[in-house]
Amino acid sequence: MMPRLDATAVDDPAGLVGLLSAAGLPTEDVAEPGRVILRYANEGREFVGIGGFEPLGSAVLLRSIAVVPDHWGHGIGRSITADLMGRARQRGATDAFAFTTRERPFLAALGFQRVERTEAPAAVLATRQAMGLCSASAVLWRKETGR
Ligand SMILES: CC(C)(COP(=O)(O)OP(=O)(O)OC[C@H]1O[C@@H](n2cnc3c(N)ncnc32)[C@H](O)[C@@H]1OP(=O)(O)O)[C@@H](O)C(=O)NCCC(=O)NCCS
Repeated sequence: MMPRLDATAVDDPAGLVGLLSAAGLPTEDVAEPGRVILRYANEGREFVGIGGFEPLGSAVLLRSIAVVPDHWGHGIGRSITADLMGRARQRGATDAFAFTTRERPFLAALGFQRVERTEAPAAVLATRQAMGLCSASAVLWRKETGR
């Protein structure tokens, strides 16, 4: 079962740089406009993780998904990702993409599939993550938001 989480919009993503860099995730562009970044609390109102996406028309680029290490392994990453997918779907996005710098069994466990860059919309390939923050060897993942 997925834990119930409360999501709050993050007005100051720069404040999350510590958690993101500790998790090995890019921070350089996190505060740029146009990103949706949310912080998540559990039912005890404890801060347990963050997640976000860049809306790109019929697609979103998921990013900045990180769970506070003390809370790993309890379905929180799955719950955050499901919440982000639901929000993407509500905005009319049919596909969610994500770049990772190495194999991520986490995304595979959630039903994402590895795809080639040629299968991604131009808007995804034009993001800063695609253009520079992630190396050319980055792995690209896709999942339909409605699945
Ligand atoms: C990856 C991360 C978000 C997972 O968070 P989590 O709350 O521990 O994940 P969950 O408990 O929701 O696990 C969901 C599924 O992913 C699998 N999974 C999670 N982390 C995994 C790992 N490191 N290796 C293999 N499988 C993993 C779980 O087994 C689970 O699958 P199951 O339901 O089939 O058993 C967390 O470890 C983290 O913040 N890591 C650092 C940042 C990072 O790597 N972000 C992801 C970028 S894509």
